[in-house]
Amino acid sequence: MKVDCLVRGRVVSPLKPLTLGQKAEVLRIEDGCVAIVGERIMDVGEWQTLKTLDAPTVLDFSGCVVTPGLIDPHTHALFAGNRSHELLLKLQGLGYKEIAKRGGGIRSTVKATRQASFEELVHTTLKRVHAFSKSGVTTVEIKTGYALNVEGEITLLQALKEVEKKSKVRVLKTLLSAHAIPEEYEGRAWDYVKHVVLKTIDYACLNSLAQFVDVFCEPGYFDTQQAKTILEYALSKGLKAKMHADEFEDSGGAKLAAELSLVSADHLESASSEGLSEMARRGVCAVVLPFTFHCSMLPPQKISKYAGLCVALGTDYNPNCTMDSLTSAMNYAVYEMGMQPIEALCAVTVNAARALALEDVGVLKSGYRADLAVFDVEDEVELVTRGGNSPLLFSMCNGRVVCPS
Ligand code: NIG
Ligand code: FE
Repeated sequence: MKVDCLVRGRVVSPLKPLTLGQKAEVLRIEDGCVAIVGERIMDVGEWQTLKTLDAPTVLDFSGCVVTPGLIDPHTHALFAGNRSHELLLKLQGLGYKEIAKRGGGIRSTVKATRQASFEELVHTTLKRVHAFSKSGVTTVEIKTGYALNVEGEITLLQALKEVEKKSKVRVLKTLLSAHAIPEEYEGRAWDYVKHVVLKTIDYACLNSLAQFVDVFCEPGYFDTQQAKTILEYALSKGLKAKMHADEFEDSGGAKLAAELSLVSADHLESASSEGLSEMARRGVCAVVLPFTFHCSMLPPQKISKYAGLCVALGTDYNPNCTMDSLTSAMNYAVYEMGMQPIEALCAVTVNAARALALEDVGVLKSGYRADLAVFDVEDEVELVTRGGNSPLLFSMCNGRVVCPS
């Protein structure tokens, strides 16, 4: 039988979404092979069996680990400007909200983004996506949220569409017009919701420009009533929804995510245990973002807090947190938060796919998308020990080579 490509290596693939605290179901084949036809995986099995297939391309990575392509389910990679100097304020002890009050934070990125050209936005975002791919990422979610007016947010969605078209990896688009209240709507949050957020949802839906709608639900940004209005509206339009919930304070975000059965609730650093239990009961994924607290210079949390949930890991790449390596996020989750290496691998593959409502990625399995990553390591344990340059040797998305580019 004829196939397009055989990839030989040590297959390590989670098979099912993992509930934190339970035993992971993982396929391990020491001398394994992934057979690919077009954009899909045709078979995964022993090299000795599959080597008989007729393939014009055979990629021999014997001894190296082949995993599903990694998935970053939460980034804010579309922005202009540079906020690296906020670090100096953090070193003086200032918190995220205090920095925002002094003219930093989201609003300062909004100024820079509103001034940037379409081409510049597409170009810088593509560069960032390229950097993500160097650690094995083949799917990335990117949010808008730095224009905060109808025209600007639509432009950002169009820029994302362009990034998606030009990128070698899969890009999922999220409308986050409810990221902050811009200066011109100061003190008029409901007006902003009505005149900007709901309008951008209408446009995104009509023009199929986004898969998800997100809200930054946090005191000082959007309260739970506003978040509920926005998310219910998005759901009624057939869009999927997720939220930034209980990042700095517990304002009932996790509970709301459960009530609305969202695809995921993200951040959750300050979520109550009742909120998290509700999420588990309703099957809402928890997207944990180890770098967010690291970049705000706050102590790491224990991953055990999320036991019972389907936990995904993301970078949360944003102007306040320019950490672009998902394998480093795994490293941090293991060393600082106490996650098991295999849990971290599930969190950036099969669980992250669930957090993005993707049915056919995140697992090396016949019929799934031909997305894979090959690392020069022995197993997932060694993978999470590696910092600095990524041990990535090769990656593929939809059967097309991503790295080396
Ligand atoms: O996920 N929390 C809200 N949004 C981002 C930060 C955005 C920014 O500071 O520009 C986050 O951490
Ligand atoms: Fe975020």
